[in-house]
Amino acid sequence: MTVKAVQQCIIPSCGRTYDVYTLKTACEKCGNLVDVRYDDRPNPTLKEVFDERRNHRGNIFNESGVWRFRELINFPGVDCNDFDAYSNVLVSLDGAEGRTKPFHLTRVAEYVGMRSENFWLQFEGSNPTGSFKDNGMATAFTHAKMLGVKRITCASTGNTSSSAAAFAANEGIEAIVFMGEGKIARGKLAQTLDYGARVVQIRGYFDDAMNRVKELVTKKGFYAVNSLNAFRLEGQKTMIYRVLAYLKWRVPDWIVFPGGNLGNTSAFGKAFKELYDWGWIKRMPRVAVVNAEGANTLYRLFNELGVKWNGGRVDDDVIDEYYTDLERRRWKAETKASAIEILKPVNLKKALRTLEYTDGIVVQVSDEEMLDARAIVGRNGFGCELASAATVAGIKKLVSEERIRADETTVGILTGHMLKDMDTIIQYHLDPRNTFSNTPLVVANDLQSILAIL
Ligand code: F0G
Repeated sequence: MTVKAVQQCIIPSCGRTYDVYTLKTACEKCGNLVDVRYDDRPNPTLKEVFDERRNHRGNIFNESGVWRFRELINFPGVDCNDFDAYSNVLVSLDGAEGRTKPFHLTRVAEYVGMRSENFWLQFEGSNPTGSFKDNGMATAFTHAKMLGVKRITCASTGNTSSSAAAFAANEGIEAIVFMGEGKIARGKLAQTLDYGARVVQIRGYFDDAMNRVKELVTKKGFYAVNSLNAFRLEGQKTMIYRVLAYLKWRVPDWIVFPGGNLGNTSAFGKAFKELYDWGWIKRMPRVAVVNAEGANTLYRLFNELGVKWNGGRVDDDVIDEYYTDLERRRWKAETKASAIEILKPVNLKKALRTLEYTDGIVVQVSDEEMLDARAIVGRNGFGCELASAATVAGIKKLVSEERIRADETTVGILTGHMLKDMDTIIQYHLDPRNTFSNTPLVVANDLQSILAIL
């Protein structure tokens, strides 16, 4: 194996590097996040190779929508053409992760006011554990395996923990996951328990659980698979590769997705910037990150307080003051979209960087807007969890404000499956006041009564 990658501090004026046989969740010199940086410049002729691998011929690493693109995320330094060599190193749920692509959803297009021909949603809920997280766990667990890790940890609003638990079960690794008590949807709790993780419920929120995990990492050397693990974000880049491969590498005008801990925002920006620097694409798309109104740190910092990446010179004082103020007011995140109920996104600076790379924007939506948008995704014969519907609600808002034009090519990411959180869905449909509710009819057990209501 010839490793041609390093971890590097994201702040250009620091830029300290670390080898890949360690996990740096923060730069030792300046405390900021690190990225995976590659020395090689993959050749664009690989586009055809990626296409050919869709006919996987029984090779699970071609079947995998993550490892099909292995040359672009090759931090382990494997020979990507030598099955015996890479199959010993790369971790996969038997090729099942990342097998997604964009779909046209006509009713959703109509709802948001876009032309169906240039509007797609990529449904990451069809991953094996029902969310986009499986993309990133494939690479995070590959890295954990490179380090010989026997135990991983994470904080979670439920999807990270489900995915981490599934990969851990498959790799024979112990998983200890932390969550805010009562703060995760039941479907996700069920998965995490069933896959055998040790679940620790903290009397607090996701942000509290995240802080405890950070302590376990820095004080006790735990291996965290949260998105502050740069190797996990490498896998999440493949969602963008699949969008682009499907569009024959024509760059869409917009990519829209929810923002919680801002891992996707970070990974997507990195994916596009690398492809641009490698000469694979000729222009950058614009990203739109959608916050829930009740968990809108990025929205407030970026739009209202003017915090920008600014070439790596981020105004830390404004961010610190913002958080101090939140704490003074005992402000808590509050949204029915529990997946993104996060006030202190760990990837904030990487997200700001993405917004600069892509001339990106941040929008916020209410729970009501997400609930209606989610129901419309359902009406299209699909399903997504509430946080994912932030994508649809966000696009609708941006179209109505004429920030996205109806004829601009737009791809939204639906991040999680509807069955993750059935309580929210049933509650919505049982209330006839909701715009798209579909209340069941209750009727006496005889044909006459049934015919009377039909
Ligand atoms: N959508 C879903 C369904 C999620 O589960 C998450 C995050 C997000 C969007 C936000 O993505 O963090 O990359 O900005 N869920 C994490 C978890 C926090 O623990 O499962 P992000």
